[in-house]
Amino acid sequence: MRAARAKEGVEIAPSILAADFTRLGEQIAELKQAGCTLLHVDVMDGHFVPNITIGLPVVASLRKATDLALDCHLMIAEPDRYVERFAEAGADMISVHQEAAPHLDRTLAAIRAAGAQAGVALNPATPVATLNEVLGTLDFVLVMSVNPGFSGQEFLPGALEKIRQLSEWRAAQGAGFRIEVDGGIGVKTIEPVVRAGADVVVAASAIFHTSNPRASFEQLRRAASLATATKV
Ligand code: DX5
Ligand code: ZN
Repeated sequence: MRAARAKEGVEIAPSILAADFTRLGEQIAELKQAGCTLLHVDVMDGHFVPNITIGLPVVASLRKATDLALDCHLMIAEPDRYVERFAEAGADMISVHQEAAPHLDRTLAAIRAAGAQAGVALNPATPVATLNEVLGTLDFVLVMSVNPGFSGQEFLPGALEKIRQLSEWRAAQGAGFRIEVDGGIGVKTIEPVVRAGADVVVAASAIFHTSNPRASFEQLRRAASLATATKV
């Protein structure tokens, strides 16, 4: 099952990394009822990042269980070996890390050829300029606002300038990529992120590590709408 991609307004993408995996189906259904359209899936290999999470079988199960779009964030070494398989398993969006993909142009082409939207993720220490040659071909850029590996870390404000740079580049070049931000997002940090130009905002602990994930999702969405409405 696949949903059409929502393109208007800021999209909040709950990261299932912080979900209760024994109740994952239920939690996703609740978020869908609240209007959620996109799920963020953090894939970690214990090599590119110091943590191991979930992989292909979970993406395939999610694909059967929900029509929400699946945004697979591959924090793995040698992503070329896996991008087709993630697309086949049901990923709608696939991002690879700039730092893990020396043949980025080829990797992005492989993601697109497999039928998924292609994105590149940037670690906090990686400048936006490293994407200059591929920005025009991207579907999205994922700006990391924490060092990848864990949920529940504090937002690194250096991400804001990177979002602004991407937003300016996009406007100047008439490019169509979306800007996604990931890490340390909560009701306070979502506002500057949206004002800087983010279109997709990922949140794990601010949604799932609360007593009411659905209400927390709605609260983040309200904060994002408010920031959009008052954006200059
Ligand atoms: C970090 C992951 C993030 C993480 C976000 O490596 O890529 O998606 O789940 O977690 P929070 O929202 O708790 O910072
Ligand atoms: Zn992520």
